[in-house]
Amino acid sequence: MLKLPEDFIFGGATAAYQAEGATKEGNKGRVAWDTFLEEEGRFSPDPASDFYHQYPVDLELSEKFGVNGIRISIAWSRIFPEGYGTPNPEGIEFYHNLFKECHKRNVEPFITLHHFDTPEVLHKDGDFLNKQNIEHFVNYAEFCFKEFKNEVYYWITFNEIYPVSIGQYLTGTFPPGIRFDFGKVFQSMHNMMVAHAKALIVFKSLNNPGEIGIVHSLETRYPYTDSEEDKKAAHLDDVLANKFLLDATFKGYYSEDTMKCVNQILAANNGAVDIQDSDLELFAKACKDNDFLGINSYQSSFIRAYDGENDIHHNGTGEKGTSVFRLKGIGEKMFDMEIPRTDWDWLIYPEGLYDMMIRIKNDYPNYKKIYITENGMGYKDDFNDGVIDDQPRIDYIKSHMESVARAIEDGVNVKGYFLWSLMDVFSWSNGYNKRYGLFYINFDTQERYPKKSAYWFKELAETREIK
Ligand code: NOJ
Repeated sequence: MLKLPEDFIFGGATAAYQAEGATKEGNKGRVAWDTFLEEEGRFSPDPASDFYHQYPVDLELSEKFGVNGIRISIAWSRIFPEGYGTPNPEGIEFYHNLFKECHKRNVEPFITLHHFDTPEVLHKDGDFLNKQNIEHFVNYAEFCFKEFKNEVYYWITFNEIYPVSIGQYLTGTFPPGIRFDFGKVFQSMHNMMVAHAKALIVFKSLNNPGEIGIVHSLETRYPYTDSEEDKKAAHLDDVLANKFLLDATFKGYYSEDTMKCVNQILAANNGAVDIQDSDLELFAKACKDNDFLGINSYQSSFIRAYDGENDIHHNGTGEKGTSVFRLKGIGEKMFDMEIPRTDWDWLIYPEGLYDMMIRIKNDYPNYKKIYITENGMGYKDDFNDGVIDDQPRIDYIKSHMESVARAIEDGVNVKGYFLWSLMDVFSWSNGYNKRYGLFYINFDTQERYPKKSAYWFKELAETREIK
């Protein structure tokens, strides 16, 4: 039987916008999602999990169920309602109280500064396409490093730069809802990496106790067949989703192969990206000082050659079999395969997580350590009078934990795993029907109910044995 190390973090992950609710309380500034969701009219980010008021309950449950780490994000617009300017005392106080409660419950907070929720004022002004907003982000980060230095040891600059950028400018599922603009996708990713590098350099200059890293969505791309065309397609998609960001993070430059692929993708889609020498100097300086890498991983992709126009259907309802993902000049993602998948067409392939960790160790040896900062299974849980039997989720977590344990055995330094999500939360494109939590939430009453997976997780955390 596989066993995890003694100092391993058994964590739960959340994000401000998906958990807090209370979007109009405490002088919080608006974020682009507020308007986007109002216009869509499908669902509201309130009440979400009402974490703004319920966090003592969630942290008490965490302690009870063996969860000894929590990923929380700070809502930038609670600290600076407009993204910059005068800080908001109510927002600051809220996070002081929240972090204190974490420590009271022996749950180590890992704090993300940006989890998809740029303040609306800055978003309207170009979000991370606008270089001025890089400066606003760095100022906000510096403010938080100083203000919360006694309560927060682990800092994360960004959550999932690739999904943010494609959501905004490729699939159009994130505000501002633009589709198929590859120039903007690469520019946004690049600029967010510049913001990461700058914030990291500021953090190191403060000499505060603590560590800083970044969370990337890193999911392995495999060729659908052994053909050269499919291999090429998988490689191009890997550069777009993984290698571009990994190079910037750990090499401190974009490798020749990476830039060749980027230019090929941009040429096929009439796009351009502006990368300044001064940006690369920042990368070179920052790349040695990442204290850890956060990996978010849910699925793997199998890509085959494709030679048509861009064509995407985002399955945001859980109607299995409706996903389409074909990118011009890159390739096509295959969904209908002999591999189990969720109702949202996410292929369940834990080997992909193992392969990614081994790749990081081999290709980016200065990674220092890895936390699996998100992994979990979206599922339409059946409430059944409070007896929530989510065995498929347990099977999912178990198989991915086994990948983690095997990677550790094979020499990868993995220090923790955060289940997405600690409790059920609001989902960006699914609202409330896609649940991930260890704790079920009745969103009308905000009552919490531990699922079968919560009891399983407790035993795992106590014994560290994966059974
Ligand atoms: C990754 C994101 O960080 C999180 O916000 C999201 O809800 C989960 N994936 C599940 O899709």
